[in-house]
Amino acid sequence: MNIAVMCSGGDCSGMNPAIKRFVEYSFEKNIKPFFIYDGLEGMIDGHIKEAEYTDVSGIIHRGGTIIRSSRSKRFYEKKYRKQAFENLKKKEIEAVVVLGGDGSFKACQILKEEFEINFAGIPATIDNDVYGTDYCLGTDTALNVIRHSIDNIRDTAASFSRAFVIETMGRECGYLALISALTSGAEMCLIPEASYDLNSLEKKFKKEIKKGRNYFIAIVSEALKISEDIKNWFEEKIGFESRLTILGHIQRGGSPTIFDRLMAYEFMSFALDGILNKNEDTIVVYKNRKFGYINSKEVSENRYQLDKNMILLAKNMMK
Ligand code: F6P
Repeated sequence: MNIAVMCSGGDCSGMNPAIKRFVEYSFEKNIKPFFIYDGLEGMIDGHIKEAEYTDVSGIIHRGGTIIRSSRSKRFYEKKYRKQAFENLKKKEIEAVVVLGGDGSFKACQILKEEFEINFAGIPATIDNDVYGTDYCLGTDTALNVIRHSIDNIRDTAASFSRAFVIETMGRECGYLALISALTSGAEMCLIPEASYDLNSLEKKFKKEIKKGRNYFIAIVSEALKISEDIKNWFEEKIGFESRLTILGHIQRGGSPTIFDRLMAYEFMSFALDGILNKNEDTIVVYKNRKFGYINSKEVSENRYQLDKNMILLAKNMMK
């Protein structure tokens, strides 16, 4: 059986260990492994090659993805999906393992329905925003990059009387901001999933300043698009000189953590087993500390919700 692996959408750390496992587990299971380079764009353009052991040696510690990724607009058009399918057929590829987010799974589901190509999806995005799974590959590495950055910023913050506003990625999802704020002892955490009250924070912060507080760390999710406003708010309402750090794409890189390396291995083994067992449910999920499968339609028709208990833990950073 010929099976290909592809990365689609925003890359993340953990993709390379997953690709390594893909090749190694394929050989173990007598599967002929293929790489689709450049995501859906590469599928359309036929950037497909048979994978060898040597392709995956020395990659486990590297961030990003050796087979690269893309966001494809062309894939929305049927003529390009047909072209993509024909490229797969030429190589006799019967199934594709896709590492990406729910948009990528949706694209593969459409391809499956139109042309009867099987696929398995592995949630892989630093945003951790895929419905049905508690964990998406790459999130732990991104959280550790953020933690390291906040720790560094705290060093300078503690040496000056300043407020530091740190903007995290996550697209529409506040997961990275919430977990980072909780685990770095921030004073403020603003995410799209929870309401916040700047007036009550102002009163609280002013009381704390009287008692000796001399710096602030505020974590703001990019989804809110208010990071600059919050920086100005610290200057105007709290009376603290302030600085804004937009962490940006550094959150997408870095050597995968041990957790992401292990998760990559598990996710990929389940993905290939799912294909070999002809599973109806094609998305591999990690829920309540167990791996399983969920239907890709269920994933695309539902929205990921942040854990309410986690939001509750951070309430004092919002009001
Ligand atoms: O989905 C991953 C992600 O890094 C988001 O957190 C972010 O909003 C977006 O991708 C950035 O996209 P791009 O790399 O296309 O600028």
